[in-house]
Amino acid sequence: MDLNIKINDKGHLDIGGADACDIADEFGTPVYVIDENRIRDNYKRFYEAFSKYYPDFKVFYACKANTNLSVLKILEQEGCCIDAVSPGEVYISRKMGFSGDRILFTGNNITNDELKFVLDQGAVLNIDSVSALKRLAEIIEPNGLKISFRVNPMVGAGHHDHCITGGVMSKFGIMDNEAVEVYKLAKELGFNPVGMHSHIGSGILDPEPFKLAIESTMDIAGKVHQEAGIDFEFVDFGGGVGIPYTPDENIVDIDTFAKENIALFKEKLEEYDMGNPTMYLEPGRYLVGDASVLLVRVNSVKQSYRKFIGVDAGFNTLLRPAMYDSYHHIVVANKMNEPNTQEVDIAGNVCESGDLFARDRFMPEIEEGDLLAILNAGAYGFTMSSNYNSRPLTPEVLVENGKCHLVREKETFEDLMAKQTIPEHLQ
Ligand code: LLP
Repeated sequence: MDLNIKINDKGHLDIGGADACDIADEFGTPVYVIDENRIRDNYKRFYEAFSKYYPDFKVFYACKANTNLSVLKILEQEGCCIDAVSPGEVYISRKMGFSGDRILFTGNNITNDELKFVLDQGAVLNIDSVSALKRLAEIIEPNGLKISFRVNPMVGAGHHDHCITGGVMSKFGIMDNEAVEVYKLAKELGFNPVGMHSHIGSGILDPEPFKLAIESTMDIAGKVHQEAGIDFEFVDFGGGVGIPYTPDENIVDIDTFAKENIALFKEKLEEYDMGNPTMYLEPGRYLVGDASVLLVRVNSVKQSYRKFIGVDAGFNTLLRPAMYDSYHHIVVANKMNEPNTQEVDIAGNVCESGDLFARDRFMPEIEEGDLLAILNAGAYGFTMSSNYNSRPLTPEVLVENGKCHLVREKETFEDLMAKQTIPEHLQ
């Protein structure tokens, strides 16, 4: 099993050297717990795998996966760059020490004000449509501004339909067959287009689609180089590398993955005589997914037509199971060595039937008061959480070599009301 599970002498779940039961006692539940060293290890493993075969390589962390400030700081210290998709992501990344040239902005359907804001912050624009290019030329003096374009490589993959971002159904990027004209237009308008970007989807464990995407993106880039006279400074192949969520899925062998993809990249560089542009990748899930767990307390065990284990969080806290039917492995953090004996449903506290963390899951005997750990909650966990059912947002704890730091306070009921005003006629 490739899931990142450690058990201490007490038979409790260990998170980065801290006992999950102690964390829950000290900080309450539900709580997201982030293991600092795991993020550092994930980054180093990823960076080293690729830079070994192609030193001109940079990692742009897709921070939509987790924008906790400490997570950003950790990756900033490691030398990582940022893939941002909204002005808010650009803003907080800048605040956490990323200079503008370490941020690539890949927004889609963005407004002129947003374009301007992102440029004022010094981030590099990765443009998603001809419309955005033309609007940009109207609101600023291009003056040789370095820009990049997102292209649709006509390859798509992902763990769910919602997470496939290439191919004819995708709203992202410019079409492969219009790329030459768009790069020419950008030059005519006075820009300096130096980058090309593609991203085929998310949660991909199969290496094949990535290879196809590298070939196809490089064929587009090669054509643009030859026919529009563009000398690329970078080519960005996006993110998407999956992590195992179930016990039978295997971790991606990142060294082989890097070796094979870089070989293809180099072949294409040679074929089109493109020199040595920097290669960018934008992992989100790979860097932070297995570095966090969500701890929840069992508050009710109900034998109805089925057996429901009720916990004190719901899809407002972790949306992935309800939204994508995603599997998250769940363990009983205070009884790690007990065998599985029963099939249960693990249900959240939101007033909707779809609020289940697991259906027919084989688990040990569970009593009220037990502590469950929902694993692999570090990517698209907190960032997709909400105040639905007027539940305050969950606190977050960072574990640094066994030492716990509260890095996000639990929201209060007052916070639920904080940004609202009541007009006079209702007072
Ligand atoms: N680059 C771009 C342009 C992206 O749109 C994304 C993810 C990434 C990189 C990072 O993908 P990753 O390496 O994390 O797979 N909420 C979904 C995932 C949506 C991903 C959106 N874009 C989930 O919970 O699975």
